[in-house]
Amino acid sequence: MDFVEVDLLKTAVSFEQYPDTLVPEIALVGRSNVGKSSLINCLTNRNKLARTSSTPGKTATINFYQIQKDRYRIVDLPGYGYAKVSKAEQEKWSAMIDTYLSKRYNLVQVIQLVDARHAPSKDDITMADWIRHYNFNTIVVATKIDKLKKSQIDKNLTEIYNDLQMDNNSILIPFSAEKRTGRNDLIALFDEILSN
Ligand code: GTP
Ligand code: MG
Repeated sequence: MDFVEVDLLKTAVSFEQYPDTLVPEIALVGRSNVGKSSLINCLTNRNKLARTSSTPGKTATINFYQIQKDRYRIVDLPGYGYAKVSKAEQEKWSAMIDTYLSKRYNLVQVIQLVDARHAPSKDDITMADWIRHYNFNTIVVATKIDKLKKSQIDKNLTEIYNDLQMDNNSILIPFSAEKRTGRNDLIALFDEILSN
């Protein structure tokens, strides 16, 4: 998997603004601040492709990144579950995520990110249910693994596995954008998704 000719193709807030459907898309979902934009930068070896911030709620649009001159796309969705933005704003983002996930027929896989340091939130569990409901295989990336002590990692991963009702067909990838842990696993996974 080469990350050549990577670029932000389109930023959208409504369905009408989405780019054409000729290209397969892999979407990233997760709470605000979980590390979606950082994962895109790590994967593509670009520091500033996706804007990241220590303040949650940075990505407030749907961002379509084209990879290999638009052979496929990675789609960065707004984060959910950020209590500090207004209720109206939260609902707007939620509707944006729902519309994308339910209507986008060139969406080939949803990847859910959860923070490896904490037990999945109620929103994380709802999102996992939603992903199953739409018959996507459960693929979870546990982010910020560099912030855990070695002794905590297995315990936390087991908790994520159980809380999100994962099973033998599910995939759980421990990841750190900072240390680039799990990057090769993710790349292999992307190759597999796109070869189907
Ligand atoms: P929203 O756009 O608000 O939904 O957030 P996001 O999910 O895109 O998160 P973002 O990538 O902006 O990262 C949020 C914060 O977490 C930033 O300060 C990142 O530097 C930090 N961060 C992301 N990934 C990692 C990681 O693997 N390890 C560590 N230590 N910090 C990380
Ligand atoms: Mg972001």
